[in-house]
Amino acid sequence: MAMVFITGSTDGLGRAAAEALLDCGHQVLLHARSIQRAGTIGEVASRASGVVIGDLSKAADVGAVADQVNAVGRMDAIIHNAGVYTEPDRGSTPEGHARSLAINTLAPYLLTARLDRPARLVFISSGLHRGGEGSLDDLDWTRRPWDPARAYAESKLHVVALALALARRWPSVLSNAVDPGWVRTKMGGATAPVDLETGQRTQSWLAVSEDPAALVSGQYWHHLRRERPAPQAADPAFQDQLLAKLGELTGVVLDA
Ligand SMILES: NC(=O)c1ccc[n+]([C@@H]2O[C@H](COP(=O)([O-])OP(=O)(O)OC[C@H]3O[C@@H](n4cnc5c(N)ncnc54)[C@H](OP(=O)(O)O)[C@@H]3O)[C@@H](O)[C@H]2O)c1
Repeated sequence: MAMVFITGSTDGLGRAAAEALLDCGHQVLLHARSIQRAGTIGEVASRASGVVIGDLSKAADVGAVADQVNAVGRMDAIIHNAGVYTEPDRGSTPEGHARSLAINTLAPYLLTARLDRPARLVFISSGLHRGGEGSLDDLDWTRRPWDPARAYAESKLHVVALALALARRWPSVLSNAVDPGWVRTKMGGATAPVDLETGQRTQSWLAVSEDPAALVSGQYWHHLRRERPAPQAADPAFQDQLLAKLGELTGVVLDA
């Protein structure tokens, strides 16, 4: 049985994946942005191996989350699930970053750098990443007028590129990205066509399954099928440029 860490597991797809994995006998380490939010998780929390706390918009909290997870031990799999959708404005984190960049892109990058290296990494992206192709020139939205949909799309393209870059860089780790579809969650809204059970299935499967089809790396998935991501996300040159930019923005460089 595997030990899986899931970011953003107070609600939505993260909590649904936690429930599904626990139901199959796996161990799950949950994550909430605050103690107050941890208190709302419900019965899943009582079956989990613990709940780590930290607001992923703040670099100090991201570091604290990494310390809490590493104190539990090396994870077999990590599902980078936490995310925000269209933020009304750029915002500014304690480090001065755009909030959606910090939560959706920088946090999974920093956690990947800080956490003991797992056997499997799963990054939750979105089909909307296809609208995020473009230059890496203004990753942090300091020069462009704020465009919430574009910022979300770019952050989800970063996540696919990061997953595929890690697959190249760390051959011993299975690293994949998932588009869960448009799912009925707080983010997806009540009219979304995909139910939670379907929406969580691919990432849970990639995290723990011994099915040969799941034991692959560097793939982009949608509902248990591999799909082609946006060309830029799959481009090694773009991936390397992105990693370099993330290193500059965070001051943290990924190990080779
Ligand atoms: N739903 C969809 O249709 C859809 C489609 C494509 C991709 N996705 C992706 O799927 C993932 C999960 O989305 P969802 O639909 O389950 O959304 P959700 O219901 O809004 O859940 C998002 C999770 O992320 C957490 N989170 C957000 N900001 C955080 C922060 N600063 N620090 C710590 N935790 C934070 C939330 O915590 P709180 O509960 O405290 O807010 C919550 O646990 C996201 O990456 C999203 O981009 C969703």
